[in-house]
Amino acid sequence: MLLINTIKNKLRLSYRKKRWPGLIHAYKDYLPVTLNTPIVSLNEGNTPLILSNSISQLIGNGTKVYLKYDGLNPTGSFKDRGMTMAISKAKEEGQQAVICASTGNTSAAAAAYASRGGLKSYVLIPEGYVAQGKLAQALMYGAEIISIKGNFDKALEIVRELSTKYPIELVNSVNPYRIQGQKTAAFEIVDDLGHAPDWLCIPMGNAGNITAYWLGFQEYLKIKRNLKLPIMMGFQSEGSAPLVNNIIVENPETIATAIRIGNPVNREKAIQVKKESKGDFQSVTDEEIINAYKILAKEGVFCEPASAASVAGLIKNKNRIKKESTIVCVLTGNGLKDPDCAIKNNDAIFRKNVEPSLQDISKILGY
Ligand code: F0G
Repeated sequence: MLLINTIKNKLRLSYRKKRWPGLIHAYKDYLPVTLNTPIVSLNEGNTPLILSNSISQLIGNGTKVYLKYDGLNPTGSFKDRGMTMAISKAKEEGQQAVICASTGNTSAAAAAYASRGGLKSYVLIPEGYVAQGKLAQALMYGAEIISIKGNFDKALEIVRELSTKYPIELVNSVNPYRIQGQKTAAFEIVDDLGHAPDWLCIPMGNAGNITAYWLGFQEYLKIKRNLKLPIMMGFQSEGSAPLVNNIIVENPETIATAIRIGNPVNREKAIQVKKESKGDFQSVTDEEIINAYKILAKEGVFCEPASAASVAGLIKNKNRIKKESTIVCVLTGNGLKDPDCAIKNNDAIFRKNVEPSLQDISKILGY
């Protein structure tokens, strides 16, 4: 008994290993930091790679579908990966303020990391199109919020201009340090699986994340010599699909407000990723997004609608997938970010105004 307990204890400790130090410390050999970089971290990264039984079954043919649940980062989205780098470098360079345009998640992450690092943050958001949770975060973390009567693309145009005119660091994904931080998600996937997946399915807005993942897989290929690179599958909403259709969308519309972007700044880089990885860009309808959002939640994984686009896209490609493939769908943000969407789009039984009576409730339960 004593021996068994000792073994169990050792196993538990080996699972926990050391306290996760945050992604810059964990991957600093592969990131542009020096001993002089003041690392601003909330111990981000190290998010779970969850095997989805229901989606694997749905795809069939022995396919294994994993979910990279980046909604479990400190501010609830993958943006924390990029922001720990961008804010640390801004601080190293002596900047005192940062600025970004955002559909919500970037603003939450920028506000949190700027506050943690002692920097001022300004965020421009499209009025009426930022999910409640994200807005609450920016308010709480201490950003100065400017809500504009225009969309994300207009906001980005303005912050880019402001950052060239004034001593304010731009922390949107045009900032190269953002991409550097975000590439670590690809490292984690390879570390977890022991190899790269056959396909990586990812939602695209400004296309910074798909660029970052590709960079990460390529860099790890050199280091780890794992034998293959994934096919990169980028998904957009039908009403907001500038990369799929190779156009600028003047008035993008989608339920997935996080990716409501009509003119992605990383367009050229994304096209390169598609070419190099022999991947594809496709659109999914809001209906398909909500369907995937519900499938994920039924298995206990609650993500925001934009994130569900990766799974919606995968489902659309069911017949193109080779036997026994390994696929990773990136879930970029937490479902709690957008409670309104969940409350409006669910199949739950929700009985209201019920009397607090044992008899009545037993009857409802069918006893
Ligand atoms: N998923 C979520 C939840 C996002 O918030 C974003 C982008 C994306 C996917 C797309 O990533 O832009 O790198 O292609 N959100 C940005 C923001 C635009 O302001 O929070 P991308």
